[in-house]
Amino acid sequence: MRSSVMISAVPPECPKPTTRELIREHLISWLRDEANLPYDGITDETPLSEMGIDSLGMAAMNCALEEQTRKRPNPEVMFELENINQLADYLDSLPIVSQTHAPAVVTVELNPGALPLPNAAPVPITNKLEHFERMNGRIRSIKEQGLYFFEPIISEHDGAWVVADGQRMLMLGSYEYLGLLGHPHTKQAAIAAIEHFGTGHHGVRLLAGTTNLHRQLEAKLADWMRAENAIVYSSGFTTNHATISTLVDHNCCVIGDEWNHASIVDGCRHSGAEFLIFKHNDMDELATHLRRAAGRRTLVVVDAVFSMDGDIIDLPAVVELCKRHNALLMVDEAHSLGVLGKTGHGIQEHFGLADDAIDVKMGTLSKTLASCGGFVAASEEIITFLRHHARGYIFSGALPTAQTAAAIAALEVIEREPELVARLQENVTYYLNGLRELGFATGNTTTAIVPVLTKTEALTLEMTKLCRAAGLFAVPVGFPAVPLNAPRLRTCISALHGKPEIDFALRVLAQAGRQTGLIA
Ligand SMILES: Cc1ncc(COP(=O)(O)O)c(C=O)c1O
Repeated sequence: MRSSVMISAVPPECPKPTTRELIREHLISWLRDEANLPYDGITDETPLSEMGIDSLGMAAMNCALEEQTRKRPNPEVMFELENINQLADYLDSLPIVSQTHAPAVVTVELNPGALPLPNAAPVPITNKLEHFERMNGRIRSIKEQGLYFFEPIISEHDGAWVVADGQRMLMLGSYEYLGLLGHPHTKQAAIAAIEHFGTGHHGVRLLAGTTNLHRQLEAKLADWMRAENAIVYSSGFTTNHATISTLVDHNCCVIGDEWNHASIVDGCRHSGAEFLIFKHNDMDELATHLRRAAGRRTLVVVDAVFSMDGDIIDLPAVVELCKRHNALLMVDEAHSLGVLGKTGHGIQEHFGLADDAIDVKMGTLSKTLASCGGFVAASEEIITFLRHHARGYIFSGALPTAQTAAAIAALEVIEREPELVARLQENVTYYLNGLRELGFATGNTTTAIVPVLTKTEALTLEMTKLCRAAGLFAVPVGFPAVPLNAPRLRTCISALHGKPEIDFALRVLAQAGRQTGLIA
């Protein structure tokens, strides 16, 4: 009754918002005020991936929730949860901590396999497997819906076609940009190496001996990359990780593009150097970071071609800035060897740069070179230093000789058949024009990696399902490999594709795009 309320000495208490209400409120205000994204119709069951909330939004919400609930959510777990209901259940399961240390907004790395954030709180566990069960929740749910498209089993490889999970498909997800996986010269070279040396090696090269094939490959790579010498590691990932963490230490500064590959990110983190990240291809921010690094040995690391987007770094500008600030420059040529430049020599040839423009020229053997492993080509001093200090080289078994011989042979094929590079570049132009005419968004790619942007994770999975059913092997990519609001089908073009294959791919994509409403 009105009178009884008026005479009450104690003001009525506002009911405390529930965890669900708090999360809903934060999400909606972030979508409305920060991201300018639609928020109507959001329910506690709406998949977060469909809302377009990105890593920054999630990190901001994490901080705000920590402040208000006095609970410390683990960002790694938060990113695995699918909707408001799951977020709320997770938060409700956490104990209240006596004092919160809400961090300033943290941008979470978008790289697969990123290390746990330093301020990640321990998750309370009731049994030793609970953490993994929780982390696998999203995988379980997409498997249950029949939308799990990872690691299909390939049983046949026939030129541009494969048999995957028992179905013949046009391969549009391969890194063999020049189609050398089945080239007779590379196959024969690998077989001959096995006949001569067997299938493995004796162990670490520095201790158990190197082979003439390893030396031959390193000399060829040095020559190919226009450098004094080269070192070969047993994987591309290890090459980046071991090289970067050896070249710089806690007295140094390392600077990278925000879209750099995970192996670069991990190398930077493990080096102990101050790690500064500039916005993608933003030369002003790179210059700012270089000024901040003044007085310290500084390494700038960039991808030549970005592996999820296919666009190219503005290398002439990076080179100029590194020279001006006396910083070492390392470039990852994983997706540019065989792809960029008239004869496929990569980004240096593409931009017509001098041989000494890049100090540390990194590449993988697992893509164009139809093998496995990675390398760095650089000055004699840098290579000697890496050979005796890089832990991923010193404490790891040698690249098998079959793979070594295959990489040498692949380089020989590219030298003998430069028309493969020209064919690949023509294919890319033909395919890109076709996609753009159909109305697909493909970002800023100009290379063999072509993202077909799909707006939401649900559309990505639906597109993949339709493409695979029609015999097209395209790869779905979502968070955390790319930002939450930029899921895509990642497609890769090769010199093996003829016009009929590319037309087939365009027809399947067009049909799937229209059926899902992605294009008109
Ligand atoms: C840009 C980039 N660098 C390095 C690597 C790691 O190379 P690898 O797969 O040969 O270990 C990859 C792998 O995809 C990559 O895309």
